[in-house]
Amino acid sequence: MTGSLHRTVALHDGVTIPQIGLGVFQVPSHEAQPVVEQALGLGYRHIDTAAAYVNEQGVGAAVRASGLPREDLFVTSKLRNGDQGYDSTLRAYDDTLGRLGLDALDLYLIHWPNPSAGRWQDSWRAMERLRDEGRVRAVGVSNFLVEHLTELRDIADAMPAVNQIELHPAFQQADVVAACRAHGIAVEAYSPLGQGAALDDARVLSIAQEVGASPAQVVLRWHLDKGHVVIPKTVSPERMRANADLEGVALSPEHVAAIDALETGTRIGGDPRTFSLSQIR
Ligand SMILES: NC(=O)c1ccc[n+]([C@@H]2O[C@H](COP(=O)([O-])OP(=O)(O)OC[C@H]3O[C@@H](n4cnc5c(N)ncnc54)[C@H](OP(=O)(O)O)[C@@H]3O)[C@@H](O)[C@H]2O)c1
Repeated sequence: MTGSLHRTVALHDGVTIPQIGLGVFQVPSHEAQPVVEQALGLGYRHIDTAAAYVNEQGVGAAVRASGLPREDLFVTSKLRNGDQGYDSTLRAYDDTLGRLGLDALDLYLIHWPNPSAGRWQDSWRAMERLRDEGRVRAVGVSNFLVEHLTELRDIADAMPAVNQIELHPAFQQADVVAACRAHGIAVEAYSPLGQGAALDDARVLSIAQEVGASPAQVVLRWHLDKGHVVIPKTVSPERMRANADLEGVALSPEHVAAIDALETGTRIGGDPRTFSLSQIR
């Protein structure tokens, strides 16, 4: 198994998630199967997809073709905004499983709070039902801000196992991370490389030179050291291998502090307060 792929994070519900996964946002459906097969061949065991990525079929085909024991794999998908609501969430879960050709997901997430629709609360109740019936191993949320977690605390039987949020050196969401920590929610960093932007930063480049690693390895090691689950996306086998080869990348406290200081407060993706149905099916 390549480098750091053995690393895991324990979720509060007893489920264990591989700390490094492959994200497949913007991987076209017909490319998803070979890309995921490549990753599985390199030892990746955690794949992050979503109904909205329109590539669950390719992901599922790769998982099934791999011949790997299902219990060795960790597959996440997400409820799209247009399917929020109690019954529609239950239906959407079945549809996702059908497209993947799997019996169950390891993690199912509410993709966005989409607050203007006022339906994530009903979706959460449906997610809890799926979990309680043993149809999904773990349930969580994505793009939830402190205000959403605070509201969720009042209606949830148990807090989400995971909150998957935009998180990279330029956008660290310290308030959301602190709230997750306080509630025992694992922090999963999406766009962990800032969609590539973090790799051009002069400070990251100089640390990379100093420690003899690539800029991507420096940024990903920074995430690991903070305990984040990371799901870097790449279609390149060389990058897949490098992104999971982080054991030899040693960052000093000064390096970590220097990367911490790169915060700009600027998002790449949508703002969870306003990101709505019209922007994602
Ligand atoms: N929950 C949500 O709302 C949400 C939103 C966005 C993303 N996500 C999840 O998070 C995953 C990752 O986020 P992301 O795709 O937005 O961004 P990312 O992983 O930060 O960056 C991906 C970009 O970096 C490049 N890259 C990857 N490894 C590299 C390396 N070693 N050296 C140089 N460039 C490298 C990729 O190019 P190549 O592919 O050409 O290598 C791609 O252009 C997604 O795939 C998805 O699963 C979730």
